Amino acid sequence: MLNFKNKKMKYTEGMLREDALKGKVIVVTGGGSGLGKAMTRYFLQLGAKVVITSRNLEKLQNTASELEKETGGEVLAVACDVRNWDEVEVMKQAALEAFGTIDVLLNNAAGNFIAPTERLTHTAFDSILDIVLKGTKNCTLSIGKYWIEHKKPGTVLNIVTTYSWTGSAYVVPSACAKAGVLAMTRSLAVEWAKYGIRFNAIAPGPFPTKGAWERLLPGDLAEQFDMKKKVPLRRVGEHQELANLAAYLVSDYSAYMNGEVVTIDGGEWLQGAGEFNMLEAIPQEMWDTLEKMIKAKKSK
Ligand code: HXC
Ligand code: NAP
Repeated sequence: MLNFKNKKMKYTEGMLREDALKGKVIVVTGGGSGLGKAMTRYFLQLGAKVVITSRNLEKLQNTASELEKETGGEVLAVACDVRNWDEVEVMKQAALEAFGTIDVLLNNAAGNFIAPTERLTHTAFDSILDIVLKGTKNCTLSIGKYWIEHKKPGTVLNIVTTYSWTGSAYVVPSACAKAGVLAMTRSLAVEWAKYGIRFNAIAPGPFPTKGAWERLLPGDLAEQFDMKKKVPLRRVGEHQELANLAAYLVSDYSAYMNGEVVTIDGGEWLQGAGEFNMLEAIPQEMWDTLEKMIKAKKSK
């Protein structure tokens, strides 16, 4: 039992008990950088063995040795372009040879950049669909078939975005692909539940990473469009907050959660959606006058 007496809890700290993922083998696509790296770090701290995979082996190996040193956990770095079915199959075999099993698949790898859609070549559009949707399909089908054939339970966690359901201008290939991943999450949550395989998704709002910020807010766009202003809580996400949620969703504590998408965005997408949310701009002192005006109309 953890003793939380006299301990002030912070969202920048780990949340689960120390051994919450003990013995679990987790494959994290895109685990060498950004949010994938942050989630990998926390999984290791909670006792998991993690396979990190992406296209850049040197980056993966650096991350693996950094995190092994930091956490004392075991990391296997495997180069794998998730767009390529054969590479995914080889990555799966490497994971099984190293750790004997796979318990969890975290589909986190993604590609994205901002562009007016009419400027995209058809192959540029494909490059995003292929990484996000086809890559998630390849890893899910490959590892899912292994679980089903060997009668092993499994857990899949997919990282989507809040524009998976709203859509978004200027990142149309990403929006289409993430919508597809969300559909896959909900569809297979039902279809593969009979095999003991759970599917959930996380929809993060803005969590600054080098990969995302260089492609989505290049140059001075980060200052021009301060992401904090889009969030009712007036801040961006901390990587540990996302890692806490991900660890819960891949752990046995969430055993009854299946087919869910959990938004973690400080209220960002709802701020954009609510019909009258623009009234936030009205100063508090004006509300007395407005109330009088409204009531005066009602009594006539
Ligand atoms: C127009 C572009 C472009 C741009 C690339 N292309 N950038 N077109 N505007 N800014 C075109 C290229 O000209 C090429 O077209 C095609 O896209 C593929 O580009 P390549 O560089 O050849 O592809 P590749 O090396 O495979 O790189 C894939 C990539 C790259 C997606 C383009 O950005 C990448 O490696 N990304 C991985 C990491 C990443 O994107 N992380 C951010 C995730 S953030 P042709 O015509 O030659 O085929 C995210 C969250 C969003 O998803 C939510 C935030 C709140
Ligand atoms: P990131 O660091 O750029 O992560 C993307 C990862 O995907 C990289 O490690 C990259 O590694 C890997 N990748 C790209 N193409 C690949 C391919 N073909 N095969 C295998 N791996 C590939 O960006 P991030 O911000 O951490 O994003 C992580 C996830 O969070 C993504 O799913 C993203 O859509 C989602 N997300 C992020 C935010 C945010 O604010 N940061 C918000 C909402 C959702 P290589 O280049 O080495 O291949």
